[in-house]
Order: sequence, then C-alpha cells, then structure tokens
Amino acid sequence: MERSLIIVKPDAVQRGLIGEVLRRLEQRGLRFVGLKLMQIDRKLAEQHYAEHRGKPFFQELLEFITSGPVVVGVVEGPRAIEVTRKTMGATDPAKAEPGTIRGDLALTIGQNVIHGSDSPERAAYEIGLFFRDDELVSYERAIDRWIMS
Ligand code: RTP
Ligand code: MG
Repeated sequence: MERSLIIVKPDAVQRGLIGEVLRRLEQRGLRFVGLKLMQIDRKLAEQHYAEHRGKPFFQELLEFITSGPVVVGVVEGPRAIEVTRKTMGATDPAKAEPGTIRGDLALTIGQNVIHGSDSPERAAYEIGLFFRDDELVSYERAIDRWIMS
C-alpha cells in the first residue's frame, strides 16, 4: 500500500474543477485519507518545489502555486504513486494522452491542473509538509475488497 500527495492547483480551483479532478482519482479506486482547502504561502511553495530551485521556471512556478486556493489531498492504494501519475497524464498537457486529467482538462505546462508525488521518498516528504499525522485517517471502505484486495 502506498500514499501520494495530490494538489488540485489554483487554475483548477478557479475553473470549478475540484470535483472533477477528485472524482477521477476516487473513481480509479484510490482512497482519500486526507483532504483540505488552503492557500499555499511562499515558504511552503519553496519547500514543496525545492527540487526545481534554480530552474528558469522556478519563480513563475512559485507565483502560480501561491496565486489562489488549492485543494491538497492524500490518496492511498496499491502503487498509488504510479497510478496517480498515470491518471494525471504527462506534465505538458500538449503531450498528455486523452483520458488523463491533463489530457482532457488542460492546455499549457504552467497551468496543468494537478500535482502528484513522483516517488515514495517525495511522497513522504510532501505529505509531511502539508498534513499533520492527526489530519490523516486510516480506514477501510466496505467496497475496498472489490478494488484493492
Ligand atoms: P508536479 O510536480 O506539479 O506534479 O508536475 P510534474 O511532476 O509532472 O512536473 P515537474 O517536473 O515536477 O515540474 C513541476 C511543475 O513545474 C512546471 N514546469 N514548467 N516551463 C517548463 O519547462 C516547466 N517545467 C515544469 C509545471 O507546472 C510542472 O507541473
Ligand atoms: Mg513534480
């Protein structure tokens, strides 16, 4: 069982796509164990995107991710990190396959609707940045035996 951090980015919140994005992850079978609406401040954005410090798009990325409210969540399931990334589609929506979140809902790399962790190490780091332990709930759904047993 794995966990991944997801962020419904400011563009998606402004466009009224919170439900649509969460629906796709939920219908895939993933289980939400944490979920909240918040606005990311500069410091948290720099910590979250530390790996991109120094790249040409870094400042733009910080400005974008702090520009309005986001919905952050933690999803759980077998191979949740890979499954979430596949459901999101390629980073550049122009290259994302139809049927993926970015392939269906986005056009440009700077406004690509959703973030998902890209490795178990990154997931643990990112979940720790956004959620306290007591904000995450471990539970089973009755349907889980038909989805992830
Ligand atoms: P994310 O971290 O947001 O889930 O996206 P990702 O893993 O698919 O892509 P990543 O390489 O981590 O890049 C983080 C975000 O930076 C923006 N970006 N812009 N202009 C560019 O060349 C460029 N490259 C990346 C994107 O918004 C990407 O989601
Ligand atoms: Mg990334």
